[in-house]
Amino acid sequence: MSEAQNRSVLVVGATGQQGGATAAQLLKRGWRVRAITRSATGDAAKRLAEAGAELVEGDMDDRALLVAAMRDVSGVFSVQPTFITPELSPDVSHDDEVRWGKNVADAAKAAGVRHLVYASSINADRHSGMPTLENKREIEQHIRALGIAATMLRPVSFMENYAAGMPGQSAIGGELTTAIKADVSQPLIAVADIGVFAALAFENPDEYVGRALEIAGDSLTPPQIAAALSRATGRSIRHVEMPLEPLREQNPRLYRAYTWLNEQDLGVDIPALRRLHPDLMTFETWLATRGRALLGA
Ligand SMILES: NC(=O)c1ccc[n+]([C@@H]2O[C@H](COP(=O)([O-])OP(=O)(O)OC[C@H]3O[C@@H](n4cnc5c(N)ncnc54)[C@H](OP(=O)(O)O)[C@@H]3O)[C@@H](O)[C@H]2O)c1
Repeated sequence: MSEAQNRSVLVVGATGQQGGATAAQLLKRGWRVRAITRSATGDAAKRLAEAGAELVEGDMDDRALLVAAMRDVSGVFSVQPTFITPELSPDVSHDDEVRWGKNVADAAKAAGVRHLVYASSINADRHSGMPTLENKREIEQHIRALGIAATMLRPVSFMENYAAGMPGQSAIGGELTTAIKADVSQPLIAVADIGVFAALAFENPDEYVGRALEIAGDSLTPPQIAAALSRATGRSIRHVEMPLEPLREQNPRLYRAYTWLNEQDLGVDIPALRRLHPDLMTFETWLATRGRALLGA
């Protein structure tokens, strides 16, 4: 493998949040990036090409195409969309996520890739009963069973969710309505920092291969989040705690999910992560930079 191929990564999902942040970090650090997208003529794909990425049109369902795209790269960054709600993720089922995640890992093995970084999720190592997390658990197990050199990055909730109308994290109408209890601290991470950790993993395989790393940049209770959003936007945003009990019958899955989230100790060692990545963003830092623009403040 040439020196250039040694520092080259195929990024899946490069037109999206985590893949985009990873591609941007790798390009900034002088790595070659090849990006898979289903449409090379989309705006995000065009921006990627302008930034220096090589685009390959393709689909995670096409294993042969994935293997061909991985032949001369040293690393692969893998992320899959998940089912959230019919409105937010109309084209994805739970089965799609698992099939795509396994396909990318199988292709990395077939192509002899040296290092796979898989964007998983916090709690993917526990039996949660939450399909979006159980899917990642299944993909992680598949990657481990393949015996390939891999790093599992397990991000917590994205700070960007507050600008994306994500259920339970939307502050539309001046209210942050969530069933997370007022005294439960929620870890958060800026998407850009996921890209930094992915790049650190590719640059330091001796430290990162074989590791699963929970990543967060801050941890705040819902009232603290509402106060930070109010300061950053200049609008009054108050936290409203959604009562859980009515959900027990109306939406048992959501009821179980929130009950579980309220009981979990999501403690992530943020000071240790900051030693690896000193510029790791707090919610305030993110709001003062990228967040403010995303929130239209
Ligand atoms: N939001 C959170 O707080 C949070 C926290 C932890 C983990 N997660 C996990 O993060 C994941 C989503 O990551 P994200 O937000 O970075 O994704 P995203 O922004 O929604 O981007 C999805 C990417 O997947 C690509 N894609 C979709 N279908 C494809 C297919 N069939 N073949 C090839 N590419 C395809 C899209 O590319 P094209 O459209 O260009 O083809 C796009 O680049 C989910 O699994 C979620 O559970 C989210």
